[in-house]
Amino acid sequence: GKVLVLHGPNLNLLGIRQPEIYGRETLEDIDDALREQALGAGWEIDCRQSNHEGELIDAIHAARLDGTVAIIINPAAYTHTSVAILDALNAFDGRVIEVHLSNVHKREAFRHHSYVSLRADGVIAGLGSRGYGLALEAVMADA
Ligand code: DQA
Repeated sequence: GKVLVLHGPNLNLLGIRQPEIYGRETLEDIDDALREQALGAGWEIDCRQSNHEGELIDAIHAARLDGTVAIIINPAAYTHTSVAILDALNAFDGRVIEVHLSNVHKREAFRHHSYVSLRADGVIAGLGSRGYGLALEAVMADA
């Protein structure tokens, strides 16, 4: 199987940006661990980060056609604003797992609503970087 991991805006600053909220691990650390976990299980994995909504949408469109069976996405701030990312995910037939490092429900009210949750098959929030590994484990177990 093949899985796409998508990280939204500002997640390139992981480890530097508000470490008390988002942890000290960098995005590279997270992606390295995910690659090891996937490759160890005989899976293909593509990890991408973008600060641009349209680039995330293009990556979701590409996943429709290249045999990707699941998308693990942390849409970051676009979670709360992007009907366009929701629409792109609605055009993808595989599984979608939404991941947030922080517990968005414990934070400001504007983070409580997620457009992506209208499509996600599963949501993990508040478990830090471990959430990505758990999402990948679930996706590979159910394939
Ligand atoms: C986030 C939560 C979002 O509200 C925020 O805009 C982010 C990161 C998280 O992983 O906790 O950038 O998606």
